[in-house]
Amino acid sequence: MDSMLYFCSFLMVILQASLLKLVLFSPISPQILEIPSPSPTFTSNSYLQIVSKLGEGFVDRPEDVAVDKMGIVYTATRDGWIKRRHKNGTWQSWKYIGRNTLLGLKVSSAGHILVCDAQEGLLKVTEDGVTVLASHVNGKKLRLADDVVEASDGSVYFSVASTKFGLHEWFLDMLEAKPHGQLLKYSPSLNQTSVILDNLAFANGVALFRCLKYWLKEEMKGQTEMFIDNLVGAPDNIKLAPDGSFWIALIQISYNPPLLNITTPRLNFIHKSRATKHLLATFPNLMKWVMGAYDKAMVVNVAADGKITKGFDDPTGKVMSFVTSVLEYDDHLYLGSLNCDFIGKLPLTTSTD
Ligand SMILES: *[C@@H]1O[C@H](CO)[C@@H](O)[C@H](O)[C@H]1NC(C)=O
Ligand SMILES: *[C@@H]1O[C@H](CO)[C@@H](O)[C@H](O)[C@H]1NC(C)=O
Ligand SMILES: *[C@@H]1O[C@H](CO)[C@@H](O)[C@H](O)[C@H]1NC(C)=O
Repeated sequence: MDSMLYFCSFLMVILQASLLKLVLFSPISPQILEIPSPSPTFTSNSYLQIVSKLGEGFVDRPEDVAVDKMGIVYTATRDGWIKRRHKNGTWQSWKYIGRNTLLGLKVSSAGHILVCDAQEGLLKVTEDGVTVLASHVNGKKLRLADDVVEASDGSVYFSVASTKFGLHEWFLDMLEAKPHGQLLKYSPSLNQTSVILDNLAFANGVALFRCLKYWLKEEMKGQTEMFIDNLVGAPDNIKLAPDGSFWIALIQISYNPPLLNITTPRLNFIHKSRATKHLLATFPNLMKWVMGAYDKAMVVNVAADGKITKGFDDPTGKVMSFVTSVLEYDDHLYLGSLNCDFIGKLPLTTSTD
C-alpha cells in the first residue's frame, strides 16, 4: 500500500515537473501570430521530380549552390566541406572547414568564395585557405549568418537569420515568431561589419512570409519596401536571375497529416497557441509531425514587380524536399536542399506555360 502511494506521488511529481518544465524552462517566449492566407501562386506540376541529381551521395545536404566564371559549381556540405564540380563533371572535396553549419555561399568578383557559417560568421575561402571576415558586430558574436551577396562596390551584404537562436534551433525562432534577424554589411576596405537592418523576422536575406527590398543605389538608397508578401511557404535563399527576376526557394512549413487528411495548414494552428509552441519547443522531436519541409519542395520565379511568373514543385517530396536555394545558370536551375544528398539540376526549357 505504502509503495503504491509512493508510486502515485512519484508519478504526480513527474507530471507536475513536466508541466512546469514546459512553461518555465521552455527556451522561447512565443508570440501569437496571425498568418495571412497565402496568395495563389501556381498549380502543382511536380517538375522538381524530374531533376538530374548532381553529386548524388557525395554532397550531404547542400544548402546553397554557387557557380564561378569558369562554370565550376560550389556547395557547402553538412560534413564540413566546400565541394566543387568541375566542368567535366568531376567532383572534388575542395576545402575542409570542419563544421556542419555552412549555409549560403557566393563567388566574389575576385573569384573568392564567400560563405556564411551559422557558427562563426562570414568566411572567405580561397585556394590558400579560410579567413574569417566577420565574427562579431557591435561587440556581439555573430550566430546564424545565412546568406550573402557582394555589391558592385565590393561591400558584402549578409543576413543573420536569428540573433537569438543557432542553426540547430532554427525552429525555435519560428515558434517564438519574433523578429530576431538582421541584414549586415561587411566593408573589406575598412575591415568592419555594421548593422544595416534590424528586427527582421528570420532573415534569410528575406523575412518570414515577406520579402523586403533594401535599396543600395539611386534615389531610394537606404530605404526598404515590401517586395513580395504572403508567400505559400517561408522564403529561404533569394537569387537574382540573368533576366533581372528572382528565384526564391519556399520552405514548406505547413503540413497536412496523411492520416487525418486535414487540409488546414498546421502552422496556423500552432501559431495561435502559446501552449503548443512551448510544447514543441520543449520536445523538438514533435516538430517532425508538424513540419512539411521534409515532405515537399517548392521554388518560384518572381518578376522585378513582385509578381510570381512561374513555379516548380515536388508536392510529395518523392525526389526533392526541403529545397533551400535555387540558382539559374546557363538555362538550368541548380537546387540546394537540407534534406537531399545531391544538387538538383533542371533544364529551364521545362516550362509551366
Ligand atoms: C576534370 O577537371 C579537373 C580540373 O581541371 C581535373 O583535375 C580532373 O582530372 C578532370 N577529370 C577528368 C576525368 O578529366
Ligand atoms: C579585421 O578585423 C579583425 C577584428 O575585427 C581582425 O581579427 C582581423 O585580423 C582584421 N583583418 C585584417 C585583414 O586586417
Ligand atoms: C482527403 O480529402 C479530400 C477532400 O477533402 C479528398 O479529395 C481526398 O481524396 C482525401 N485524401 C485521402 C488520402 O483520403
